[in-house]
Amino acid sequence: MEIPCFSILYFISICMFALEVCKSVDVLRSSEPIRDSDTLVSPGEKFQLGFFSPGNSSNKYLAIRYHNIPEKTIVWVANGDNPVNDSSGVLRIGNEGKLVLVDQAERVLWSSNNMNASSQSVVAQLLDSGNLVLKDDSENVSGNYLWQSFDHPSNTLVAGMKVGWDLRMRLDWHMTSWKSAEDPSTGDFTCGVDLGGIIPQLVIRKGRVKHFRSGPWNGIQLSGVPPTHNLVFIPKFVNNSQEVYYTFNNFNESTITRSVLNASGNHQRYLWSEKTQEWTMIYMWPHDECDVYGNCGPNTMCTISNPQMCSCMIGYQPKSQAEWDTLVWSSGCFTMNTGMSLKECELECFKNCSCRAYANIDATGGGSGCLLWFGDLLDVRKLSVYANQDLYIRVSASDLDSLNSKWKEWVAVAISMAFVVLSVVLYFCIIWKRKKHAQGITFDLPAEDENSLQLLIFDRVTILRATNNFCDSNKLGEGGFGPVYKGQLPNGQEIAVKRLSEDSRQGLNEFKNEVMLIAKLQHRNLVKLQGCCIEEERMLIYEYMPNGSLDSFIFGKTREDSLVWRMRFNIIVGIARGLLYLHRDSRLRIIHRDLKASNVLLDNEMNPKISDFGMARVFGGDLSLVKTKRIVGT
Ligand SMILES: *[C@@H]1O[C@H](CO)[C@@H](O)[C@H](O)[C@H]1NC(C)=O
Ligand SMILES: *[C@@H]1O[C@H](CO)[C@@H](O)[C@H](O)[C@H]1NC(C)=O
Ligand SMILES: *[C@@H]1O[C@H](CO)[C@@H](O)[C@H](O)[C@H]1NC(C)=O
Ligand SMILES: *[C@@H]1O[C@H](CO)[C@@H](O)[C@H](O)[C@H]1NC(C)=O
Ligand SMILES: *[C@@H]1O[C@H](CO)[C@@H](O)[C@H](O)[C@H]1NC(C)=O
Ligand SMILES: *[C@@H]1O[C@H](CO)[C@@H](O)[C@H](O)[C@H]1NC(C)=O
Ligand SMILES: *[C@@H]1O[C@H](CO)[C@@H](O)[C@H](O)[C@H]1NC(C)=O
Ligand SMILES: *[C@@H]1O[C@H](CO)[C@@H](O)[C@H](O)[C@H]1NC(C)=O
Repeated sequence: MEIPCFSILYFISICMFALEVCKSVDVLRSSEPIRDSDTLVSPGEKFQLGFFSPGNSSNKYLAIRYHNIPEKTIVWVANGDNPVNDSSGVLRIGNEGKLVLVDQAERVLWSSNNMNASSQSVVAQLLDSGNLVLKDDSENVSGNYLWQSFDHPSNTLVAGMKVGWDLRMRLDWHMTSWKSAEDPSTGDFTCGVDLGGIIPQLVIRKGRVKHFRSGPWNGIQLSGVPPTHNLVFIPKFVNNSQEVYYTFNNFNESTITRSVLNASGNHQRYLWSEKTQEWTMIYMWPHDECDVYGNCGPNTMCTISNPQMCSCMIGYQPKSQAEWDTLVWSSGCFTMNTGMSLKECELECFKNCSCRAYANIDATGGGSGCLLWFGDLLDVRKLSVYANQDLYIRVSASDLDSLNSKWKEWVAVAISMAFVVLSVVLYFCIIWKRKKHAQGITFDLPAEDENSLQLLIFDRVTILRATNNFCDSNKLGEGGFGPVYKGQLPNGQEIAVKRLSEDSRQGLNEFKNEVMLIAKLQHRNLVKLQGCCIEEERMLIYEYMPNGSLDSFIFGKTREDSLVWRMRFNIIVGIARGLLYLHRDSRLRIIHRDLKASNVLLDNEMNPKISDFGMARVFGGDLSLVKTKRIVGT
């Protein structure tokens, strides 16, 4: 009799096991609706679907939550705005092959929005990913779903869920915040991918207003969202002709993370800790005020640890506070080009004088792609730990010095050298004034000329602005000692700036020579020196000659014919007058020593003006006594 008894026990245990299996099904068929106390459990027991109440709420929601995590965290809600207020809720597959949630009074609280299908073969299944899918069971094609919950995220992203766009179906995958932690009805914030800019990026909106944005994907991460290297999750951004989306995977099977858009519009990522049996927030985004859209205004740097959060970027000065607040992202712009190396990107930026900064789009594999910023830079943020992508900002060399410590030493050396030079110059000035007859050189300066010696000293920033950062399109030509640029001062006056190249033959002596000489010379056939700049580099600022140099008329192919004989004659007479003044009539005796067509400039009335006094020499009264040993000229 023992054998039958054993058989009965065996039979019972099999039945119990079968019952257990029956209870935790993963598939919902049209014949078997889910009631309040029933659940669907994914095959690997990772997620469950049922009627749940978040927190202490008394309302019931059709929701998906973790199955094997004691803290039954809800990751998806169907009827957030239409809760069931008792235990009468029923989920079934309706006649049109849709999921339908009804209450006691057969009121439809929620339904899936798929196309009508024949209900007989349609089943719903909860997958181990946490995705509730509706599919035609007669079709054996995996992934071909009539509807899926992953297409309609609530406030949570689990691994594999997407935020972005299905461009073919015009599906907008976005997260929507809850009203509060206990009320899953539609909240104020959404998080989706903004396709409006040139580069797609994650944007958190409050209503329709952009509130925070992630910065573009750089190949490793969204540039404004932490962290890069971690053993928790692997972020991914997909952009192709069919889809643009952000998603992530857990680092491995045993790591469980989720990200949540909370009721106040913060994107938080949580990690489940087996040890402590609770969720820990590993980061949140926006992290702080620095992430707020356009918070600091253009050309600023946001550093949250600074008492003054917003600071100007290198080479920029603060505008008025009111302007900082009103300027928006759209006032700056950038273009991009994929597949460019950093070097090519740099060249591209240097080509256009209004280019302010450049960076690689894709930081992986040494970097590729080219992002250029024109005009004002907005929302640049200093990231300390996860900085992976460098932004190269174009500044004038002098602005850099004060910030870069390596340069500081050089500046210190340069300043002390400049001090020495200045002292020497001052010393000689005093000597010159006391001893009017120094050997070989006579400076015969009458009292009124000393006033005219007061040259305008321009600061470098003024010159940079006037010449549009020495833009190539402003270049007038290349003189013996460096390029000459056209510029316009804030008062509208046009100038020509001779930028003395570092390696030019014109040393400090020649520079001083030219400045001193020309400053003292006043004649209508000599080009007028407006001033100079000695900051960082040496520059001479002349009045601008619209008609350029004589050589372009004489040797140039196009302008040759415009020079009629009368004009030629006037030019010849003008040059002769200028020379006569230099040799005889001026208080100084000056030999130009480099007179050639390219050094004769023409004003708008074609009056010739002699320029380029870099090699000129001043002699004493009696020219017959003077000899020069150096060979100069061209
Ligand atoms: C639920 O209520 C209990 C007791 O009133 C309280 O301690 C707990 O914090 C509440 N939970 C939430 C999520 O508000
Ligand atoms: C639940 O909601 C129904 C329909 O809105 C309403 O008629 C009923 O009174 C509510 N029950 C409770 C207990 O609030
Ligand atoms: C879907 O089915 C419903 C009810 O049977 C019907 O009213 C509706 O027109 C159908 N829609 C389509 C697109 O066939
Ligand atoms: C579905 O197709 C796969 C191969 O594509 C096959 O292995 C499987 O048995 C099929 N299932 C059903 C239910 O037909
Ligand atoms: C999963 O990754 C964690 C690090 O985040 C590691 O400690 C753990 O051993 C890994 N587990 C498996 C099964 O690989
Ligand atoms: C995204 O993909 C589209 C279509 O393939 C392409 O035109 C666009 O340049 C891509 N954008 C980026 C930032 O890669
Ligand atoms: C949302 O998250 C942020 C950052 O963790 C927190 O400061 C804020 O209180 C949260 N809001 C709500 C409503 O929980
Ligand atoms: C520089 O770039 C700006 C913005 O793209 C453009 O408007 C401007 O014409 C460019 N200038 C030159 C000289 O290419």
